[in-house]
Amino acid sequence: MGKSTFSKVDFSKYFQPPSLKDARRRRREPVHIINNFSIPEEMKTIGKGKNYLIETYGCQMNEADSEVMAGILEAMGYRPTEDAALADVILVNTCAIRENAENRVFGHIGRMKPLKLEKPGLIIGLCGCMAQEETVVNKVLRTYPQVDLIFGTHNIHRLPQLLQEALFSKEMVVEVWSKEGDIVENLPVARHGHFQAWVNIMFGCDKFCTYCIVPYTRGKERSRRPEEIISEVRDLARRGYKEVTLLGQNVNAYGKDLKDLDHYGLGNLMDEIRKIGIPRVRFMTSHPKDFDDHLIEVLGKGGNLCEHIHLPVQSGNSDILKIMGRGYTRERYLDLFHKIKNTVPNAAFTTDIIVGFPNETEAQFEDTLSLVKECRFDGAYTFIYSPRAGTPAARMKDNIPMEVKKERLQRLNRLIDQYASESNAKYQDQVVEVLVEGTSRKNDQVLSGHTRTNKVVNFVGPKSLIGQLVNVKITETKMWSLDGEWQREPEVAGK
Ligand code: SAH
Ligand code: SF4
Ligand code: F3S
Repeated sequence: MGKSTFSKVDFSKYFQPPSLKDARRRRREPVHIINNFSIPEEMKTIGKGKNYLIETYGCQMNEADSEVMAGILEAMGYRPTEDAALADVILVNTCAIRENAENRVFGHIGRMKPLKLEKPGLIIGLCGCMAQEETVVNKVLRTYPQVDLIFGTHNIHRLPQLLQEALFSKEMVVEVWSKEGDIVENLPVARHGHFQAWVNIMFGCDKFCTYCIVPYTRGKERSRRPEEIISEVRDLARRGYKEVTLLGQNVNAYGKDLKDLDHYGLGNLMDEIRKIGIPRVRFMTSHPKDFDDHLIEVLGKGGNLCEHIHLPVQSGNSDILKIMGRGYTRERYLDLFHKIKNTVPNAAFTTDIIVGFPNETEAQFEDTLSLVKECRFDGAYTFIYSPRAGTPAARMKDNIPMEVKKERLQRLNRLIDQYASESNAKYQDQVVEVLVEGTSRKNDQVLSGHTRTNKVVNFVGPKSLIGQLVNVKITETKMWSLDGEWQREPEVAGK
């Protein structure tokens, strides 16, 4: 297929391969809000009679981006399909957070070669965070000629033009911006759910934790205007949505860049969203450093603000936290944790933890275990440290042997499992409010949903309950889910 050069790429301002080094720069220029996105008339029928499939890896930010891409493709006439063999366009929205995340994507696009041979007109696109890395783009150019199009996280709104170019080009089309884009407000969104919705409140991350690739792949922190967010949530409420999750990599930095507003932060935003008639509001991800008292006070008001806080700690040792560049100590994390717990007593806490960071000693790892024992988290995502090229930590020696990393992960997971079971056991015989999201993956006679505290609840009931908030009495508790009985008689919702 001969797609091995950048020959189709115009090396002007926006047509270039990525550079992580450029992406590291934080520019002072103001972010513009763009409200005039539109799809040119002649592109609105490109997808008529054709199907698209978007495969999403990574975090909720990617899920939200995929819904925008779906919205754009549908506005171009494409219809969704779940079957790769029926697709005319397949977009793989990728995650760069750890090496194994990237390997999964490479494995997947490798396996797509036969699809392309069977259907030469098929367009395979790679987008998302991996597309922002020059090593990835070079590797795809060299070894994956089945890929037709690469674009990044900052130019999703260019999808119509890029797709058109890919359809007519014999070469791989590559357009990745290493400088963050402006905020485009009026992009079409094809939401996956009918009662749960993602709402981005900000983009990017300026924290530069030393191990993390996200500030490079997502650019500088940019907050959406509160009025835009509020009107989006109001609109979702009007359309019958039951739950919104406010999204950002570090939602506690929300508003810092909105210089014309006087200290308007996440607390202020949540206080306004609290008054909107939507039953459930969640937010993620919180960064302990920026989690302020005002937000805690607002969360204490309850109402539609759900009692679940995802508060990644990463390590329980202050020296490791310092080298990670997290900006807080073990003690400050614990203070914050207890402060939130005192104000929101029913809150469930989950966290993220990395084991085997460079030079982590056994004693430092044990500090993480002791912090977990103190916090008794409801759950945690635990990871083995993975060096990401271009980050400061990648220049440190990755000197903890893999056996030791794995052994630490196992010990940590055993503890996490124990507290997950214990925190679920407390729900025995309680009546909880569940948003019914669908049927259980294992058994379609069983309905499944989440509590306000984000616990999975399974129970038997009619499918007509899907999309509703119902009361369920918990009859059996497990490590990662609760079983219960639907309470026909609506009573005052428990927490
Ligand atoms: N913005 C969020 C995290 C986003 S990434 C926060 O600051 O908490 C999700 C999780 O992936 C991180 O919390 C961290 O635990 C993990 N992670 C990030 N980079 C990693 C790396 N290089 N190796 C292993 N785990 C990593
Ligand atoms: Fe990565 Fe840290 Fe930003 Fe989270 S806060 S996305 S871990 S740099
Ligand atoms: Fe992955 Fe990018 Fe999210 S690296 S975790 S998809 S911001």
